[in-house]
Amino acid sequence: MAPIDNTDVNANTLFSPTLISPSVVSALPEGYTIRPLQRTDFDLGFLDVLRVLTHVGDVSQEEFGQRFDHMKAGAGGYHVLVILDGEGKIVGTGALIVEVKFIHQLGKVGHIEDIAVAKDQQGKKLGLRIIQALDFVAENTGCYKTILDCSEANEGFYVKCGFKRAGLEMAHYY
Ligand code: ACO
Repeated sequence: MAPIDNTDVNANTLFSPTLISPSVVSALPEGYTIRPLQRTDFDLGFLDVLRVLTHVGDVSQEEFGQRFDHMKAGAGGYHVLVILDGEGKIVGTGALIVEVKFIHQLGKVGHIEDIAVAKDQQGKKLGLRIIQALDFVAENTGCYKTILDCSEANEGFYVKCGFKRAGLEMAHYY
């Protein structure tokens, strides 16, 4: 599939809305929407959704904006998307970071990171829709594969999303 042009994005939007999968849009529950992260999402519960995943810390609106700008300046690599419920509250998020390589004929690899669905919204297939939406981004930005790390407890979820176990995670913590 030919990569989609990702250059036509306004300053408030992290990446092009043309990278949002139409089939995921139509599969969401009634009233729910999915879109790229916006610089104004600080007030819509974005960091609270991430708190179901891990420690987020005390991030100010200014710091959030600075990190957003940093991601946006990253040559099309960062694709953080959000799902909003019928009231416009952010209830799910996930990220695909596109890594550009020298190997595999200047190939690209997608890295799925920071998948989180609000506790009271889990079990409605929102996690699955987030992964499907990120897969669409990966395919349409020219990635030849997408990889992720997860706990044993979440393996079943990713298997349901079509992933299979491959390799072993190693880490240094600083
Ligand atoms: N183990 C096995 N199966 C699971 C699990 C699990 N932990 N979680 C969901 N499933 C299954 C569901 O039963 C469903 O199966 P079905 O199609 O047979 O009905 C399928 O996977 C899809 O489930 P969803 O409803 O889409 O899952 P949900 O919206 O609840 O999101 C998620 C799953 C993202 C793991 C959510 O529970 C969550 O936010 N957890 C806390 C944060 C977290 O652990 N995030 C993942 C970190 S790993 C990373 O970010 C790369």
